[in-house]
Amino acid sequence: MSTNSARALPLASEPAPASSPAPAADDFLPYGRQSLNEADIAAVLEVLRGDLLTQGPAVPRFEAALADYVGAKHAVAVNSGTAALHLACLAAGLGPGFSAVTQPITFAASANCIDYAGARADLADVDADTLSLSPDALSAYLDATPDCRAVIPVAYAGLSALDADFRAAAQGRTIIEDGCHALGGTRPDGSKVGSGGAAAMTCFSFHPVKPITAGEGGAVTTDDDEFARRLRLLRNHGMERDPEHFIGAERGPWIYEQHALGFNYRMTDIAAALGASQLTRLDDFTERRRDIASWYDRMLAGLDGVSPVQADPAMRARSAHHLYAVRVDFAGARRSRADVMAAMRAEGVGTQVHYIPLYRHPWRRPAFPRAEARFPNAEDYYAQALTLPCFPGMSEDDAARAVGALARALGRPIPGQSPG
Ligand SMILES: Cc1ncc(COP(=O)(O)O)c(C=O)c1O
Repeated sequence: MSTNSARALPLASEPAPASSPAPAADDFLPYGRQSLNEADIAAVLEVLRGDLLTQGPAVPRFEAALADYVGAKHAVAVNSGTAALHLACLAAGLGPGFSAVTQPITFAASANCIDYAGARADLADVDADTLSLSPDALSAYLDATPDCRAVIPVAYAGLSALDADFRAAAQGRTIIEDGCHALGGTRPDGSKVGSGGAAAMTCFSFHPVKPITAGEGGAVTTDDDEFARRLRLLRNHGMERDPEHFIGAERGPWIYEQHALGFNYRMTDIAAALGASQLTRLDDFTERRRDIASWYDRMLAGLDGVSPVQADPAMRARSAHHLYAVRVDFAGARRSRADVMAAMRAEGVGTQVHYIPLYRHPWRRPAFPRAEARFPNAEDYYAQALTLPCFPGMSEDDAARAVGALARALGRPIPGQSPG
């Protein structure tokens, strides 16, 4: 039996549009939602009935399964995607005097992690097709920025764009892929997102709207032994427990040494058990998301002024389809985005905008003067962006309902129905 206990779940950082009252929760189609079954629940209960809620065997078990799934030598589990990004920045040696660059179309955490490490967070524009960091913009940025030590491309909506052009453009800088949308997807070279080839480290999130959930959680995958050692050290207060790495001479079963300023970013066994159970379902989830994307693609082909992003069939085949995002010609339809979102919400269909470009946030704006002119692709996309519901529990009827609500909100005929 499939159990979907939680209902419309907003991203913690993204308040639902407030202009109209939410319809009854049972009818509401959120833009994302977890899928939990009895096996997931049993896995959590097993931990709750045991002795160790944290620092037990479930975390290394989850790490081994994740590393195996993505094809990486190491997976280091932490308690959020944000923590994963923070530790990856530190492991890459970011700190004062260095910069790192990410893209403006992303969630705040992709850049905040650079600031947490004490480095300067920079931005370069997205590619208009992939909506990931543009190789051309990256090259131009790096030519002018010798202190840049790491690049953080985002696999936007589930599509990794780490191809040979991108790697050449990165000019040897450490590549930390923000794969928080993309577990289950594949890279242009055919490897899984998270494998050790194209990126030095890949970061994942297990928030409930993500490809799999652990409640909250995250992980870094890497092939590099030294990065993995550093990540493990930093997630647990910087404490070294392996006598082989001790600096001092004192020995004993109680001895550990603090080697760095670390954090408590440990994942609990409760979360790890849920994550491991969900991981066994990931390929089914991804296949379902792919079906949903193809239903939408077909239905939206008949709706003027609306076009799916990343529509190239090769991109479609590789994406984890975390989000189903479209470009909408709001101006052509003479409707504002706020009105369209409110009208759809009144019909019980949740939408979102992924994302407000990072330089538009008041906190970042002072660092990016004249940003609108510097990031034309991000600006162009932001003006049109809308995310429609996409999660494994959705049916084809749900997708049709979302498309119908969008068509009505835009004042356009519903695709597949004659106007009369
Ligand atoms: C692209 C991206 N990066 C990082 C994060 C942060 O992940 P978490 O919420 O697990 O900290 C998110 C979460 O929304 C995200 O979408």
